[in-house]
Amino acid sequence: MTVDAWSWGSPIYINGMTGGSETAMRVNRTLAAAAAATGVPMASGSVGVALDDPGMAASFTVIREANPDGFVMANIGAGRPADAGRRAVELLGADALQLHLNAVQETVMPEGSRGFGDWLRGVEATAAECPVPVIVKEVGFGLSRRTLRRLHEIGVRVADVSGTGGTNFARIESARGDDAFAYLGDFGQSAASCLLDAPEPSPQLLASGGVRTPIDAVKALALGARAVGIAGPFLTSALEGDEDRMIAELRSWLDQIAMLLALLGAARPADLQRTDLLLRGRLREFAELRGVDAAAFSHRTDRIPSTDPEEH
Ligand SMILES: Cc1cc2nc3c(=O)[nH]c(=O)nc-3n(C[C@H](O)[C@H](O)[C@H](O)COP(=O)(O)O)c2cc1C
Repeated sequence: MTVDAWSWGSPIYINGMTGGSETAMRVNRTLAAAAAATGVPMASGSVGVALDDPGMAASFTVIREANPDGFVMANIGAGRPADAGRRAVELLGADALQLHLNAVQETVMPEGSRGFGDWLRGVEATAAECPVPVIVKEVGFGLSRRTLRRLHEIGVRVADVSGTGGTNFARIESARGDDAFAYLGDFGQSAASCLLDAPEPSPQLLASGGVRTPIDAVKALALGARAVGIAGPFLTSALEGDEDRMIAELRSWLDQIAMLLALLGAARPADLQRTDLLLRGRLREFAELRGVDAAAFSHRTDRIPSTDPEEH
């Protein structure tokens, strides 16, 4: 069983965001109502708190109540028992499970985990028990080529690379007062570099992390992402419970991405994978160091056969 993000009908999705226990209800209700109004798929924040404290369940079941027919993903962290994913999916009536890998975040959190050696087996066991497709994701530090290869080997079919450049939990933790890991603020890989360096074969790729404007989304689609996740930019409207603003924001993203597709002559997001891309600066340096042929991306349109007889 897999997810085909190209059949979503939306090039973007609302990525998983945990609110604190007082704000979770408002955040989830606002995001879910806006997702329902716009047809944008949505992930919950980590359902772990509701599995540990049944008193929190209503803050998550509100997602399905407010969005009965939309595509909903439940979210849970790696490192939990194998049945946690299934329980999270059942609580939300979810269509897919996001399983997050957050080793850097755990490292920088004073109360975080310090051992990740059993995560791969845990992901495999969670996926085996899960009644819906599993999407493995990072939380803003990126999934490396090696990780994507290992995920593919254990049968994970979809991964969200969630790279650097946007929400950064190393910086957030150091701002919370413990500067011990402030130097990790630049650690990780951007979504673009993860997409460039993905192995073949690989899980189907979704991208997120640092997507701040519609052109960022278009670039990620052009680099091979099937859909693009956005979290941080929606936090303010969600925390304020401002459903109308949230709907307006989502509509603006969808409208502008559609306009950019038209500008680039792409009938659908998948067509962007034939658009020429110039890789510059750090991304080009990364491509060179990883042996990725950056120049090949500059000439992708040369490989499209011309259908215009006048051109011959
Ligand atoms: C307030 C907040 C809470 C988050 N909570 C979760 C979470 O519970 N589970 C998860 O997988 N990712 C969580 N994330 C990470 C996002 O899903 C995403 O991977 C990351 O923020 C990068 O995207 P962005 O730059 O668009 O914010 C959270 C992000 C934010 C901003």
